[in-house]
Amino acid sequence: NSKGVIFDLDGVIVDTARYHYLAWRKLANDLGFDITETQNEELKGVSRVASLEKILGWGNVSLSQDEFMEQMAIKNDNYLSYISTMTAKDILPGVSKVLDFLTENEIPFALGSASKNARGILEKINLYHRFSAIVDGNNVSKAKPNPEVFLIAAKELEMAPSNCIVFEDSVAGVQAANAANMVSIGIGEKSVLNEADHVFSDFTKIEIEFIKNLVTR
Ligand code: BG6
Ligand code: MG
Repeated sequence: NSKGVIFDLDGVIVDTARYHYLAWRKLANDLGFDITETQNEELKGVSRVASLEKILGWGNVSLSQDEFMEQMAIKNDNYLSYISTMTAKDILPGVSKVLDFLTENEIPFALGSASKNARGILEKINLYHRFSAIVDGNNVSKAKPNPEVFLIAAKELEMAPSNCIVFEDSVAGVQAANAANMVSIGIGEKSVLNEADHVFSDFTKIEIEFIKNLVTR
C-alpha cells in the first residue's frame, strides 16, 4: 500500500486541547488578564514557547528570561496535573474505529504533534505501540504552520508527502499539512478550519467508507 496517515494528538486523539487552554488561561489570570476561546484557536498546534510569547503579547506583559522559563514550567505542571488521570477511556469517540481500520488494512500511521508531552500521553492512553512513527515537539525545530513535523513523519513512514493524509484540529496544523502537500482533514468547526480539504466536527462523523476511499485512491 502506498498511503500513510498522520495524526495530530491534542484535540484530535484526546481532548487535551481543553486542558492546554485551561492551563494557559490560569497563567494569564495569575498575570492579571484573560484569554478568550477565539484567542485560544491561535494557540492550538503552537509550541509551548511560541504560545507563551503570544499570550504575553496579548496581555502586554514582559518577563525576564528566568521568569519566562518559570512560567513555562508552572504551565506544564498545571497541564500535567489536569491530565494525570487520563486513560484509554479518554480516547475521543470514533478514533479507535479509524485506527483499527488502518491496522487491519496495513495502512501505516504516525503521530505528528507539537507537544513535548506526546509520548507520555500515548503511553497513558495505551496507543504508543500502535504508531509506526512518532514525531513530537522534541523532534522538530520549526513549529506548525511550518510543515517540518509532517515531512519528518512522512519520511519515517517512507511515504511521499503527497501520499499522506493528516488529521488536525488546529489552523496552524492544517496550514502545515497543506504546505507539506498532504491531504488535510480538519477536526472541528468548518468556519475555523476553512483551509482544510475536508472538515468533520469529530471522528464519529467520519464514515469508514470515506477513509477507505482516501487510502485506496
Ligand atoms: C500542541 C497543542 O499539540 O502542543 C498546543 O495544540 C501546545 O496547545 C503544544 O501548546 C505544545 O505542547 P507541550 O505539551 O509541549 O506544552
Ligand atoms: Mg491539535
